[in-house]
Amino acid sequence: ARITLRQLLDHAAEYGYGVPAFNINNMEQGLAIMAAADAVDAPVIIQASRGARQYANDVVLARLIDALVELYPHIPVCMHLDHGNNEATCVTAMQHGFTSVMMDGSLKEDGKTPADWDYNVGITRRVTEMAHYGGVSVEGELGVLGSLETGMGDKEDGHGAEGKLSHDQLLTNPDEAVKFVKETQVDALAIAMGTSHGAYKFTRKPDGAILAMHVIEEIHRRLPETHLVMHGSSSVPQDLQDIINQYGGKMPQTWGVPVEEIQRGIKHGVRKINIDTDNRMAMTGQIRRILTENPGEFDPRKYLKPAMEAMTKLCKERLEQFGTAGQA
Ligand code: G3H
Ligand code: 13P
Ligand code: ZN
Repeated sequence: ARITLRQLLDHAAEYGYGVPAFNINNMEQGLAIMAAADAVDAPVIIQASRGARQYANDVVLARLIDALVELYPHIPVCMHLDHGNNEATCVTAMQHGFTSVMMDGSLKEDGKTPADWDYNVGITRRVTEMAHYGGVSVEGELGVLGSLETGMGDKEDGHGAEGKLSHDQLLTNPDEAVKFVKETQVDALAIAMGTSHGAYKFTRKPDGAILAMHVIEEIHRRLPETHLVMHGSSSVPQDLQDIINQYGGKMPQTWGVPVEEIQRGIKHGVRKINIDTDNRMAMTGQIRRILTENPGEFDPRKYLKPAMEAMTKLCKERLEQFGTAGQA
């Protein structure tokens, strides 16, 4: 059944677990996520970015989610908009059956320019007011995602802040977080503490200097009732880098967010953990392998089925590691 983010994360807080939010762009990813949730009896958050909505089309995505919910009626599914950038993207998501939206006002509508306080509070509060009339949950973001190593925002895919950012921008300020939640009434708060989107987060295994988990602990102490969200939380596992490179890929060595850091976050109020890159890599590794091993193959099912299975395996691992398994 479909549930809201608020319902799901309230339960997660009560029972002390986290919920991965997996990105979806197509049928294969949807089937893979649901197979994993079903296998370990977990609730799940499925999220679509604006790019996903353009790629798959809102109508197709909406019917796909209907189908997934119908196929697995016993699995609680929260359908969430990832990184909405204005009122319109949030409202149109609601019209298509999303039970939760992210209004990311940490950046201006262009998705590149860091926003000021009044802009972020104003637009987030407007979305929260509208969404709550319709029983839809809202995630806001305070602080800009980006690397504490380089001071740069996300470099990939043209999204993320442009140019150099200060430590002040890259780390959510706990005092401001308290004010932000009070003024916007968001159900969940995404915070910045050194993660960024994509595969190239860290040039070494992160420690406290470049992955500021202590910020989460401080914010949770000040806001014990607020559900915290970690973006850019792919772990970028070594074995997935290796399989891609073994079969013709060229990914430079990189590090993501270690699962044990996320587990530590879950002990301190992190309830939603966004993961896209790991699933992209899991699928691509298998597609590369199959096509390399069988250069004569041209039936997409022959490589998409192993790709789906690899994604299911990864989703299952995260559902188990975050304590979501068994909570459906
Ligand atoms: O926001 C980051 C997610 O990985 C979605 O990426 O905008 O390329 O669909 P996307
Ligand atoms: P990753 O790129 O680390 O998977 O992060 C995804 C994300 O934060 C989506 O909003
Ligand atoms: Zn994100």
